[in-house]
Amino acid sequence: MNRSMLSKFNGPHPPAPSPEGEGEKIFVCWRSPSNIALIKYWGKKEGQLPLNPSISMTLHQSYTLTCVEAEFKREPGGRIISVNGEIQHPFLLKMEKLLIWLVQEIPVLGNFIFRVETSNSFPHSTGIASSASGISAFVLCLLSIAEKVNGGEIPLLEFMKMASFASRMGSGSACRSVFGGFTLWGKTPDVTCSSDLFAIPVTERIHPSLRTLHDTILVVSSTPKSLSSSQGHSLMVNHPFKLARIRQARTTVSELMKALTLGDLNRMAELAEVEALTLHALIMSSPGGMILMEPNTVQIIRQIREARQKGLAVFFSLDAGPNVHLIYPEEAVLKVENFIREELISLCENGFLIHDHCGTGPVRTIMETQ
Ligand code: DP6
Repeated sequence: MNRSMLSKFNGPHPPAPSPEGEGEKIFVCWRSPSNIALIKYWGKKEGQLPLNPSISMTLHQSYTLTCVEAEFKREPGGRIISVNGEIQHPFLLKMEKLLIWLVQEIPVLGNFIFRVETSNSFPHSTGIASSASGISAFVLCLLSIAEKVNGGEIPLLEFMKMASFASRMGSGSACRSVFGGFTLWGKTPDVTCSSDLFAIPVTERIHPSLRTLHDTILVVSSTPKSLSSSQGHSLMVNHPFKLARIRQARTTVSELMKALTLGDLNRMAELAEVEALTLHALIMSSPGGMILMEPNTVQIIRQIREARQKGLAVFFSLDAGPNVHLIYPEEAVLKVENFIREELISLCENGFLIHDHCGTGPVRTIMETQ
């Protein structure tokens, strides 16, 4: 089943490596955004499949720009030669593993060697998932290369579905980044066509008032993560609350989809906050009992809840770290700016925050043969 998903990239006559083609290059760039999960993907099964469905909002300003140069080789390729001119990069292992898998799926990629240039629009360790944007940008480049080699254009939505499927193999959250607006990953009876294998866009079901939400990331600490995602997901394998968590996430997906459709921001706020706190509760109740929140994280959460009780349309989400995503609607921007200035900025590391908002998804920026 998995294999057939990318079969469109295996054209009827993939070019056989020929002496004439040696050294020919294809150059592709994609800009792909990060996303913030409102319902968290936490824990996975064999085959990089999620334990539970998740829903995210795609960001706009926080993206990775990746360019890949593919050079045609007669001898077996399918290798990354450099990332940013070097042979070391935090995601090199993930990218190499993913490339090995992709070459099995799309053999024509095995005829190239790859040079990757990649950069993020946002600083490291600030509560924005760089693997979601980085891995999806890399996959989009490789699939565009495969598409070009095969010479047949694949309709955009289909292309993105396959990009989501392939991105998932590199990083689960990356499969949600290939669509703009709101995205659902994981099989749920609430949404037909939902799948554990790839994410689907659900923005059309979302009330227009929620499609322009803002997300200001309040950076409490930019010290690198003490818990990697793979360590984190593995904590769920024997977690005492595993079954309850899966049940809870399924119900929350159902409830959140209703709230999103109705444009019910208050209900959305309640559900997203419980989700964020559940993620941390699961981490805290795992062996070793890690506490990833800082005192200022808790203080910010309290202030946000107090402000909401007083009528300000704000709520929070958290990733697996101390930084807080403050989410609010377009019409509250001015009031929230005041709120941040008066009550929250002093709780951020050197007053550090990053403004972002719901975005429209990845963009191919340049595509030319060199
Ligand atoms: C807490 O997608 O980074 O951000 O599949 O191992 O790469 P891998 O994990 P990753 O996990 C993200 C976990 C999370 C929640 C979420 O984004 O859904």
